Amino acid sequence: MNKIPRGTLQEQTFYEQVGGEETFRRLVHRFYQGVAEDPLLRPMYPEEDLGPAEERLALFLMQYWGGPRTYSDGRGHPRLRMRHAPFTVDRAAHDAWVRHMRDAVDSLGLPEEHETQLWNYLTYAAASMINAAD
Ligand code: HEM
Repeated sequence: MNKIPRGTLQEQTFYEQVGGEETFRRLVHRFYQGVAEDPLLRPMYPEEDLGPAEERLALFLMQYWGGPRTYSDGRGHPRLRMRHAPFTVDRAAHDAWVRHMRDAVDSLGLPEEHETQLWNYLTYAAASMINAAD
């Protein structure tokens, strides 16, 4: 009995619970594979190489879920709505983003509870990023 020290389970961050850095790297890598093939989203990314964008999103999500704060060490406060202001995020861009993210989340095969938690956040955040009418 009581082999698990009190508090251990609750103190694990979501980041740790879902498998840490490797999980977030897999998620974002799969997502950007979709973006790379997307005729609407791909032209929105200013850099020819999607690698740096992949790195930023991975580090942001790791930090958001309780992992290392590397994102803010390099980029400062996320201010995500402000950082998206230069881009036209309308309903179509939102829908494409969410579609690729759904595919990426599915590819992780997370337990349902974690998957739902991650998905609810991502869709909430995506809706809040819309800054243009269709
Ligand atoms: C709703 C549709 C969205 C579109 C079309 C979109 C598009 C973009 C584009 C074109 C960039 C610039 C490339 C770059 O500098 O990395 C970017 C950056 C970024 N996006 Fe999004 N995005 C969307 C939603 C989101 C959401 C929901 C999140 C977070 C959950 C997010 C997180 C980020 C981050 C962290 C960056 C890099 C910010 C930086 O440090 O400069 N994006 N996004």
